[in-house]
Amino acid sequence: MILVTGATGNVGAELVRALAGAGQPVRALSRSGRADGLPSGAEATAGDLNRPETVRDALDGVTGLFLMPGYGGQRQVLADARAAGVQRVALLSGKSAGSGDTGNAVAGYLIDAESSVRESGLSWTFLRCTSFMSNALQLADQIRKGDIVRVPFPDAYTTDIDPYDIAQVALRALLSDEFAGRALELTGPEALLPADRVRILGEVLGRDLRAVGLTHEEARADLEARMPKPYVDAFFSFFVDGTLDESVVQPTVADVTGRTPHTFAEWARTHADAF
Ligand SMILES: NC(=O)c1ccc[n+]([C@@H]2O[C@H](COP(=O)([O-])OP(=O)(O)OC[C@H]3O[C@@H](n4cnc5c(N)ncnc54)[C@H](OP(=O)(O)O)[C@@H]3O)[C@@H](O)[C@H]2O)c1
Repeated sequence: MILVTGATGNVGAELVRALAGAGQPVRALSRSGRADGLPSGAEATAGDLNRPETVRDALDGVTGLFLMPGYGGQRQVLADARAAGVQRVALLSGKSAGSGDTGNAVAGYLIDAESSVRESGLSWTFLRCTSFMSNALQLADQIRKGDIVRVPFPDAYTTDIDPYDIAQVALRALLSDEFAGRALELTGPEALLPADRVRILGEVLGRDLRAVGLTHEEARADLEARMPKPYVDAFFSFFVDGTLDESVVQPTVADVTGRTPHTFAEWARTHADAF
């Protein structure tokens, strides 16, 4: 049995689908324990990663754990996983974890999550991803309202990855020992600017979408409305000060899965209904 946390999210839902499709028993954990949309054979369960006692029962019979980073209960959840006989953990992480910069709030919580997994005694694989293609869903409201799409960090090239591809790598890391003890740097197949992604979305949707870059002040106000200030500072450090370079394509997804990762156009076609 594989336990997928964050199972109703972008990556978790893809992983539940992939495991069920491969005929693997899978338990899908989220706080809501939502079962709608789950593939047949997958089991929904409710649990809160900030309250480890609510996750304990879900570990029964589990051999592999897909873990979301950054929750308060992570050390206890990992200790309970070890006690329950879990063998492998695949941790969703980010490229910035490789910086070692604990002073950056985003890198810091990812580094802490990686440390807690390393110290757990479980066999582990870290999935150090670049930005997710699904971040483009944050533009959906604007796109429904008009053709001008205002984007933060207009000059930052990033090799965004489809959550589907993260899940494809996670599946392999959870079902074999081949990737044990490895921090895998996962990227998409191309470096794009935010304006490129807006143009591609326009092509897929049959719209003449145009990106306009937010100024630093506008981007800060926009982000601070959605997340705590230390995280906003972290993203400014990454993409304005340039402390994180997500512009380089890595071959890891193809090396692990045997196929090239999805392009942003492929992601956009699959998710066109969301816009
Ligand atoms: N977005 C990026 O560019 C990026 C890049 C690198 C790494 N990451 C990492 O990926 C994570 C997001 O992954 P995602 O996009 O797949 O997730 P997501 O779509 O934001 O969904 C979050 C999932 O976690 C569940 N969840 C939230 N709080 C929980 C809690 N306290 N206990 C148990 N489950 C909880 C949610 O369901 P309920 O609400 O029902 O609990 C949902 O299933 C980020 O937190 C970040 O650490 C993101």
